[in-house]
Amino acid sequence: ATAAEPYDVVVIGAGPGGYVAAIKAAQLGLRTACVEKRGSLGGTCLNVGCIPSKAMLNNSHIYHQTQHDLKRRGIDVTGVSLNLETMLAAKDNAVTGLTKGIEFLFKQNKVDYIKGAASFVSPTKISVDLTDGGKSEVDSKNFLIATGSEVTPFPGGGIPIDEQQIVSSTGALSLQKVPEKLVVIGGGIIGLEMGSVWSRLGSEVTVVEFLGGIGGAGIDEDVAKQFQRLLTKQGIKFKLNTKVVSAEKQDGKVFLKAEAVKTGKEETLEADVVLVAIGRRPYVEGLNLAAAGVELDNKGRIIIDDQFNTSAKNIKCIGDVTFGPMLAHKAEEEGIAAVEYIKSGHGHVNYNAIPSVVYTHPEVSWVGKTEQELKAAGVKYNIGKFSFSANSRAKTNMDSEGFVKILAEKETDKVLGVHIIGPNAGEMIGEGVLALEYGASAEDIARTTHAHPTLSEAFKEAAMAAYSKPIHM
Ligand code: FAD
Ligand code: NAI
Repeated sequence: ATAAEPYDVVVIGAGPGGYVAAIKAAQLGLRTACVEKRGSLGGTCLNVGCIPSKAMLNNSHIYHQTQHDLKRRGIDVTGVSLNLETMLAAKDNAVTGLTKGIEFLFKQNKVDYIKGAASFVSPTKISVDLTDGGKSEVDSKNFLIATGSEVTPFPGGGIPIDEQQIVSSTGALSLQKVPEKLVVIGGGIIGLEMGSVWSRLGSEVTVVEFLGGIGGAGIDEDVAKQFQRLLTKQGIKFKLNTKVVSAEKQDGKVFLKAEAVKTGKEETLEADVVLVAIGRRPYVEGLNLAAAGVELDNKGRIIIDDQFNTSAKNIKCIGDVTFGPMLAHKAEEEGIAAVEYIKSGHGHVNYNAIPSVVYTHPEVSWVGKTEQELKAAGVKYNIGKFSFSANSRAKTNMDSEGFVKILAEKETDKVLGVHIIGPNAGEMIGEGVLALEYGASAEDIARTTHAHPTLSEAFKEAAMAAYSKPIHM
């Protein structure tokens, strides 16, 4: 093929949705290019999201544990101190290594990496503002939009993000000094993960949340309550049913005005740094969607049908910029399915089996329906719950807070939802995802051998509790 010949697929955006789709398309034998304007591959997730936040979560946990948890294990250490610069460098190293890894995968799979910002000229042509200068026009038989999301700014413009004192998650990943007082606006996943990081490193953290519970959308209420108790024990303060209304910078501090949602009672919160974490919104800036005839809904999301088709022929869309949970693995699954549709007319994503994980300590994870959702739908269910305090491995590890909760349909015993708070919940949810994917019953899981002594025995016992009785509780 010559450069002038149209590609089979051009993917716009190289986040987890876009880069995975591009590799899969090339593997399926399609002539593929991926356009990315960031200067590095991997999107939000690798550059300023999943990966750097997990590096900070892991290392801040080790620091905190060394200070507060080793003594009772018979390990005496003295002179523990934080070298924030090194911790930040370790995070940056992880990011650079992984983004370079994708560049290697692009080469290996023969995906053309076009560095620049894409803008539609017509439904079959984009113009790319090249990072190295100049413009280039690229024709393709199919386009896949995977331009992701950006931070939702505070409404009304009253709390502008400067990434120094008033930061988004991006600034919160690179603070050069541990703030004495950190106020987090929003008790969703970002607020809790980044709040945990800085709390462990020594900040006094207050989380202000509009709703009556923490954890964001989709969390089971039972889990959310226990989660809040455990984080409170770790020293994080919560102000629920409270909304921040304005901010004022003065003498190196930020003074926030907050208001009780029910009574309107006002209070002032003082902060050295404020983290705005009130959600993310679809990102389509500069794409010139009108030239392609791609339509948005009233929340700014690109409208797609159940085969990822936008309103324009041969333009598909996946990931954060369209419907559904804003999660990296959801974007990846969609990316693969979308190019399979292009190649063969078939693809599949099971939206009922997409796990969520909050990487705090303990971790929180879930998949499928919550109790509230089942109640609202009038579905009758059994609850099987098993505490890690009754699990031998959690006990020996001296890390036994939390539980596994399995919701199974009363009539059929089919697993409908799994909710975990506890050590390693993020890895353990894989078993719940598989159960939903395969349509397993609680009894199926309960009759499956789980190695002893492992944390996953708590999963088995929760399943036993759902269809009959557990042994160890
Ligand atoms: P993105 O990753 O946002 O990628 C889109 C890419 O498109 C960007 O690189 C952008 O530069 C590029 N782009 C946009 N417009 C153009 C254009 N016109 N031309 C060329 N390129 C363009 N999810 C998880 O599942 N697990 C986690 O642990 C997790 N942690 C997170 C932590 C934080 C702090 C944040 C902010 C997010 C986290 N997420 C996590 C969410 C996750 O990052 C997103 O769901 C995921 O990145 C979405 O992937 P995407 O491919 O749809 O878009
Ligand atoms: P979020 O939607 O999870 O939480 C935002 C919270 O802010 C909500 O609880 C909301 O009620 C609250 N809020 C909104 N306006 C407010 C106000 N004015 N005052 C007080 N509270 C207010 O969004 P978040 O945490 O910003 O994360 C964005 C996205 O990134 C999420 O959708 C999530 O899927 C993704 N993410 C995923 C992670 C993971 O999978 N581990 C980690 C981090 C982010």
